[in-house]
Amino acid sequence: MDTSYLGLDGKVALVTGGSRGIGKAIAAQLADAGADVAISGRKQEGLDAAATELATGTKRILPIAAHSRKPDELAALVETVVAELGRIDVLVNNAATNPVMAPLVDVETQTYDAIMETNVRGYFLVARAAARHMIERGEGGCILNISSVGGVSPDPGLGVYCISKAAINMLTRALAIELGEHGIRVNAIAPGVVRTRFSQALWSNEPLMKQEMAHTPLSRISEPEEVARLALSLVTDASAYVTGQIVVMDGGGSV
Ligand SMILES: NC(=O)c1ccc[n+]([C@@H]2O[C@H](COP(=O)([O-])OP(=O)(O)OC[C@H]3O[C@@H](n4cnc5c(N)ncnc54)[C@H](OP(=O)(O)O)[C@@H]3O)[C@@H](O)[C@H]2O)c1
Repeated sequence: MDTSYLGLDGKVALVTGGSRGIGKAIAAQLADAGADVAISGRKQEGLDAAATELATGTKRILPIAAHSRKPDELAALVETVVAELGRIDVLVNNAATNPVMAPLVDVETQTYDAIMETNVRGYFLVARAAARHMIERGEGGCILNISSVGGVSPDPGLGVYCISKAAINMLTRALAIELGEHGIRVNAIAPGVVRTRFSQALWSNEPLMKQEMAHTPLSRISEPEEVARLALSLVTDASAYVTGQIVVMDGGGSV
C-alpha cells in the first residue's frame, strides 16, 4: 500500500513502552506507515520479542532497554536512537505505571514517588531530550504523550495515577506553546479502558465493567489498535495544524 501521503517515509520514531500493549500497537502502525521505529521498556527480552514480531517489512525496529525511573538510561535512550537510526522525528511517550489501587489517604510516599517519577518525570526527560535534538536539527517534529481520561476526571482508587496523567496533559500544552516556533507539534491521547495487561484488573471485572458501560455510549472498551490508529493520525501530516490538544477516546464515557 502506498503510504507516502502520511509523510512518514524515511522518518524515525521512538515509542517508549513499546514492547506490548498500546505502545507495541503504535510501533506497528508507525512501521507500516514507513517509519523506522525504536522501542523501549525495562526488559530486553520483551523488547527483543516485540522487535522480531514487528520486523515484518523493510523498516528497522530497534529495541533498547531503558527504565523510566533512571534519568541516565533515558538520556542514553535518546542518544542511542539518534546514533543508530540517525534522527528522531516522532516521539511517543507511552511507558507508564500504576502499582496501586487505593484511596489517596492510604497511599505510601514511596508509591507516590514511584508513580510520579515514571509517569511524569520519565515523560518529561524523554520529551526534553528529544525536543533538544529536534530543535538542533531544525526540521520540526512531533511529540505524542499517551495520557488517560483519568487525567481529565478522577477515578476513585486511582488518585495518584490520575494526578500523574493530569500533569501529562499540562506537560503537553506547555510544550506545545514553547515548541511551536520550531515546527514541533505536541499532543496527547487520553484513552478510557483499553484491553491490555495494564488494565486487566478492570476489564476482567465483570460487575465493574457493567457499571462502566452503563454510561459509555459506545458500550465497550477499546482495543490497542484503535489507540494506535488515532496516534498515527496525530503524528502524521493528517494533523499538521493540530497542537496542544488532549484527545479523549473513551467511547463517549466522559461526555
Ligand atoms: N490500558 C488502559 O486501559 C489504559 C487506559 C488509559 C491510558 N493508558 C496508558 O497507556 C499507556 C500504555 O499502557 P498499556 O495499557 O499499553 O500498558 P502495558 O500493556 O502494561 O505496557 C506497558 C509498557 O510500558 C513498559 N514499562 C512499564 N513500566 C516501565 C518503566 N518503569 N520504565 C520503562 N518502561 C516501562 C512495559 O515494558 P516493561 O514491563 O518491559 O518495562 C510495556 O512495554 C500508559 O501510559 C497508560 O497509562 C492505558
